[in-house]
Amino acid sequence: MKLLAIETSCDETSAAVLKADQPGRPTLASCVILSQDIHRVFGGVVPELASRAHLGTIVPVVDEALAEARVELEDLDAIAVTAGPGLVGALLVGVMYGKTLARRLARPLIGVHHLEGHLFAPTLEQPDFAPPFVALLVSGGHTMLLDVPAWGQYRLLGATRDDAAGEAFDKVGTLLGLGYPGGPAIERLAREGRPGRFRFPRPMLNTIGEDGPDQYSFSFSGLKTAVLRAVRTSTDLERDRADLARGFQDAVLEVLVEKAATAIEATGYPTLAIGGGVACNDALSAAASERLGRSARVVVASKRLNTDNAAMIGAAGLFRLRQGEQSGADLEPRADLPLPGLLPASASIGISR
Ligand code: KG4
Ligand code: ZN
Repeated sequence: MKLLAIETSCDETSAAVLKADQPGRPTLASCVILSQDIHRVFGGVVPELASRAHLGTIVPVVDEALAEARVELEDLDAIAVTAGPGLVGALLVGVMYGKTLARRLARPLIGVHHLEGHLFAPTLEQPDFAPPFVALLVSGGHTMLLDVPAWGQYRLLGATRDDAAGEAFDKVGTLLGLGYPGGPAIERLAREGRPGRFRFPRPMLNTIGEDGPDQYSFSFSGLKTAVLRAVRTSTDLERDRADLARGFQDAVLEVLVEKAATAIEATGYPTLAIGGGVACNDALSAAASERLGRSARVVVASKRLNTDNAAMIGAAGLFRLRQGEQSGADLEPRADLPLPGLLPASASIGISR
């Protein structure tokens, strides 16, 4: 079984080839990721430019993925493509390309949810990674905590009420004059920063132990405003920049890690999986490992598979195809595609202190 996967939900044009023997785990034969640099000039992703760039690069990116995998188009057995959520114009490029190719080759097509892709990313590198686990998904567009009792079953424990964690990193990066994306630059700078010189609020940390719907919710927009205030009152930004980055990062990580650890305690699961672009942050995985100690292991994919890529879309797509699912020629991209297999929130997950 040879599967071509395509991802164009935001500002990466990516294609990957996965090879799988039934019912084994797939191996990654190739993964090409082209990051669109154009958005740096604007300090954030410009949707119209993203769509145009995908149009220009999708064909060579797929060709390169096939060549690296030494696979001809005709050898493909199936095609997986991100159908949402994301920028609808950007998604459209991948979906139209995937649909056209599937029709031309008369092969099955599967539309994949981008976040289910992030959940599957570690399976390509860590063969023993499997549910049950708690997932902390932290990207530029999402921040959520999920209870994953089995593949395809996702119970939403909590999500952000405003900015996503990655979005907060990006906005604070701009405030500190670090350019886009802010996450990697803040992480680098924070290593030199002194902890505690700027103590920012830990938003919604106090909801842990509350028997309400916000126990696992996040909020990062107030934190961004607190950093803005500190930047404005700083008399020497050159001197304070690294300490501000450290203070901000420490606040975000503490909230993420405490809520994830609470979910691990409540479920008793042996594994915490961290996925999405913010999972590239080494301080985050280190803090989670330290906080959880022996009670659970922390699973994080390599950086290449944590930022947006087609390999993870292929892994999730293969799971869906093996479940007997398939998308029709009517597959449409959806900016707000709901996660398939979302279970209702359960009262039993609450933890009281
Ligand atoms: O998953 P992703 O590649 O795209 C989305 O689906 O959004 O995530 C991109 C986000 C950006 O906000 C970026 O700043 C953040 O991930 N990010 C990081 C780091 N590397 C990327 N945030 C914190 N620390 C990092 N090292
Ligand atoms: Zn993503």
